[in-house]
Amino acid sequence: MMEFPVELISYLTKATRVAVLTGAGASQESGLRTFRDAQSGLWAQYKPQDLASPEAFARDPKLVWDWYAWRREAIKGVRPNAGHYALAEMEKRIETFTLITQNVDGLHRMAGNSNVLELHGNILKVRCSECGTFTEVWGDDSESVPRCERCNGMLRPDVVWFGESLPRAELESAVNAARTCQVFFSIGTSGVVQPAAALAHAARNKGSVVVEVNAEPTPLTPKVDFAFHGKSGEILPELVKAVWG
Ligand code: APR
Repeated sequence: MMEFPVELISYLTKATRVAVLTGAGASQESGLRTFRDAQSGLWAQYKPQDLASPEAFARDPKLVWDWYAWRREAIKGVRPNAGHYALAEMEKRIETFTLITQNVDGLHRMAGNSNVLELHGNILKVRCSECGTFTEVWGDDSESVPRCERCNGMLRPDVVWFGESLPRAELESAVNAARTCQVFFSIGTSGVVQPAAALAHAARNKGSVVVEVNAEPTPLTPKVDFAFHGKSGEILPELVKAVWG
């Protein structure tokens, strides 16, 4: 049984507004690689930054489409881990709970969280790169990138690529949640990609208690009130048990 500082337990017991930011580390124990882990197999020769961009899609749309098709397949067999379920439990216990995620794997909703802000989109959703129409079905993609039924534009994953702007509504809600929460968690994120990385500082500047749960120290660590270095799938369930029994 992990020991947690009594001050943190007291803050969470009394809190009515909590915001959480998660990154790829929160899904690592579900078997999904973090962003800065090495890629595997066929894709080992590529860095995500070289595939997840409008330039990469313009240069070789089929390569980018195939990478996301491979990642969608990889996600189909993946389930939330104990850390995801602990956050779903926390949402039940806190009056206003906002889960902001950089992850595109959909695992937070699968674990039961409802107020989820997907800052970087969702890999399981596909939209037309021209007219923006979403679609769940598409034709054969073995030879070429499937086309939109409405305008014949190339389909693409509904994720935010490097150099693209984040969805405005989600980002505004995330900033508001960070600024109004009493406790802010940064979980499984290296805290290097903006604007998500700025949310913890926005919370701190407004006087929130900031808690980091990450496998290793990050640039945020020196600025948080409580830092727990280890696996989120182990730490979060213990924290929920320590606060809410
Ligand atoms: N539990 C907690 N933290 C973990 C675990 C775990 N089981 N496994 C790994 N981590 C930590 C790593 O130590 C690392 O600090 O999770 C962090 C993952 O960092 P990144 O791989 O940089 O992923 P992330 O922070 O989500 O990247 C942010 O950058 O590449 C873009 O759009 C992409 O959303 C991504 C964004």
